[in-house]
Amino acid sequence: MGSLLNQRAVVTGGSRGIGRAIVEALLAEGAIVTLCGRTEASTATALAELAHPRAHGIAADVSAEADVARLFAFAEERMGGVDILVASAGIGLFQAAGDMEIADWKRTIDINLTGVFLCSRLAIQSMRKTGGGFIVHLSSLAGRNPFAGGAAYNASKFGLNGMGEAMMLDHRNEDIRVTTIMPGSVDTDFSPRSSGKPSEWKIAASDVAAMVIAVLSMPARTLVSRVEMRPSRPQK
Ligand SMILES: NC(=O)c1ccc[n+]([C@@H]2O[C@H](COP(=O)([O-])OP(=O)(O)OC[C@H]3O[C@@H](n4cnc5c(N)ncnc54)[C@H](OP(=O)(O)O)[C@@H]3O)[C@@H](O)[C@H]2O)c1
Repeated sequence: MGSLLNQRAVVTGGSRGIGRAIVEALLAEGAIVTLCGRTEASTATALAELAHPRAHGIAADVSAEADVARLFAFAEERMGGVDILVASAGIGLFQAAGDMEIADWKRTIDINLTGVFLCSRLAIQSMRKTGGGFIVHLSSLAGRNPFAGGAAYNASKFGLNGMGEAMMLDHRNEDIRVTTIMPGSVDTDFSPRSSGKPSEWKIAASDVAAMVIAVLSMPARTLVSRVEMRPSRPQK
């Protein structure tokens, strides 16, 4: 199994939720991490709470090309390169298609799909310089199971699954291994629909982080292309 000691990781959406749990797991494995949240405040809070010498961070909106360029320039400057990208930044705006504002549709696609593409593209360009790396996309079971109110979110995650698989085929022979992780309900602040309700039955963010570490620890001969995770006993 490969070691993650001194591996250089960029984690988008690393300020909160699943991304934050992944940042903590990577640091525990000895990796160096650059995280981004969307806002200065959440990014600064995460860095202060982590208080870790190997944790760096900068706010970046992954849907903005200039912000993504700034994020990777910062990662390059702080870490000297990128071996791992975990793209966890994402939003969920749920509305029946006929009632959805066009701006909400665009925002969902721009962040959940185009944002992952923009980050992956620069990560690949950086990884080519050192001969390989890992790219992990946080998709969702919503990328295969449509639900009412999910038109924009489902579209973004179905799209992400297709893009991730194509990217995996594009770059596997350059030793860049692309993995799509598709969790069901995870216990974070992601969905306002679930706030305030009991959530012990949900997947913990740390469980997703453990899966990411397992994927990143595979020997060079093995590429985990897609992982589905779901609560053992789902509740409404
Ligand atoms: N929670 C679930 O049930 C679940 C299930 C399956 C898949 N997922 C997927 O897992 C990923 C993470 O979800 P989560 O539960 O961790 O969500 P979360 O707790 O709401 O955290 C979202 C993270 O994404 C960041 N973010 C949002 N928009 C951004 C943007 N435009 N640019 C950069 N960063 C942005 C947020 O930054 P700020 O802190 O600055 O807001 C925050 O760090 C998402 O892609 C989501 O679709 C979640």
